[in-house]
Amino acid sequence: MNDNLHQLRCFGCGERIAGSDARPDFRCAQCGDLFEVEYAGWNQRKGHDRPNPGALKWLWRERRSSPEVLDQSGVWRFRELLPILDNFGNAVTLREGNTPLYPLIRTAKALGMDQLFAKHQGMNPTGSFKDTGMTAALSVARERGFEWVACASTGNTSAAMAAYAARAGLRSLVLIPEGKIAWGKLSQAMDYGAVTCQLKTDFDGCVRVLTEIVNQSRIYLLNSVNPYRLEGQKTPALEIAEAFDWAVPDHLIVPGGNLANSSALGKGFRELHELGLVARMPRISVIQAEGANPLVRSFRAHQGTAMEPVEAHTRATAIRIGNPASWRKAARTVQETGGWCLDVTESEIAIAKAELGAEGLGCEPASAVTLAGLKKLRAEGKIAGNESVVLVLTGHTLKDADYTIDFHRGTLLTSQEMAGHEADLERLRRNAVVVDATPSAVLAALEGSAE
Ligand code: F0G
Repeated sequence: MNDNLHQLRCFGCGERIAGSDARPDFRCAQCGDLFEVEYAGWNQRKGHDRPNPGALKWLWRERRSSPEVLDQSGVWRFRELLPILDNFGNAVTLREGNTPLYPLIRTAKALGMDQLFAKHQGMNPTGSFKDTGMTAALSVARERGFEWVACASTGNTSAAMAAYAARAGLRSLVLIPEGKIAWGKLSQAMDYGAVTCQLKTDFDGCVRVLTEIVNQSRIYLLNSVNPYRLEGQKTPALEIAEAFDWAVPDHLIVPGGNLANSSALGKGFRELHELGLVARMPRISVIQAEGANPLVRSFRAHQGTAMEPVEAHTRATAIRIGNPASWRKAARTVQETGGWCLDVTESEIAIAKAELGAEGLGCEPASAVTLAGLKKLRAEGKIAGNESVVLVLTGHTLKDADYTIDFHRGTLLTSQEMAGHEADLERLRRNAVVVDATPSAVLAALEGSAE
């Protein structure tokens, strides 16, 4: 089952094309919708030729102790479920994936829950979940002989793309909204040698410009409209299922920006289910920031069947997206798994992020929407205390240190945003104090720090 079996199927009209026939902007020539990678052979093959669940589970676990480069990747370890390359020797890997699943003991206790976990995708080589998608799609770019790759980004995709392109010896072009991305991410694109253009527009404007560029020049588009990105980004679903010994958790909670990640995780669990590796899919819920909530509005107004773009505003800059490309795929995932789609405020995000920090994990603001969303779902009685829940933390806390410092200094939120949250803010803030360089002054600071 290692041969390259895939084709692309349009999510809108069902049109099927060969992978190499996709347009540069990855839109369907018939209806303009996005494609999904499909492995028709899995269904056609019968008997011993069909993927054998027991053999795959054994093989994937064995590879964890293998010295082979591909086996050490948490994406390519599962390569039987992403046969997108003619030759796996073309894979470009930084040993992504295999990220930790941490129990959240204190948060679980505070929420009256038995089993709460964080799948920390910020523990990837460039500090975000984007690495799992980038290893897949950039490998396709290399195999197809591209010299240039490009993306529009709120920062993490560009950091990942620049790193993987540098490893492969390809050139990369990054379009980012000027002044609206975290410094850590901008510094990565520069460090990994990308041509970085800050455009005087937002993320959605950067996408528009880049779409025109790739339609004019031979540059390979690595935004998540590229369906190969999702093949890599589905592998955390496999890791989570493996960590639960192939009995999936009850509920997965994912942040929503351009909505590829929730779509990819849905695809991962769906394929595991169809292939008989797991008995069911978890519920998958998507959480957006209140000021960047087009999918939430879509569910409120149209049951997820239509989406109107919004002008996006949130300090969680990673998900400051008003016109998400993969909204249809994400809506299907939420609907078919019985999940929810809701939004959270700026203060709820900031408090949830500090709570995760206080558990020793830390994450980007965009990742903290998951915990903020869980708290709402618990309060509304939608998640029972005995359900197992996994929060997908998408980015590393050091990506956006300014946000964290502003929070602890008390300068992040406006007084209007802080109203009603005073107790939580007081409990969580740990501003750095300036004290005299004497033991007694430092010990006095210890006494002054309330628990
Ligand atoms: N969390 C982080 C840290 C992100 O960087 C992103 C997206 C998301 C969540 C949302 O994921 O778009 O698949 O729904 N960042 C993109 C970027 C858009 O350009 O780095 P999504």
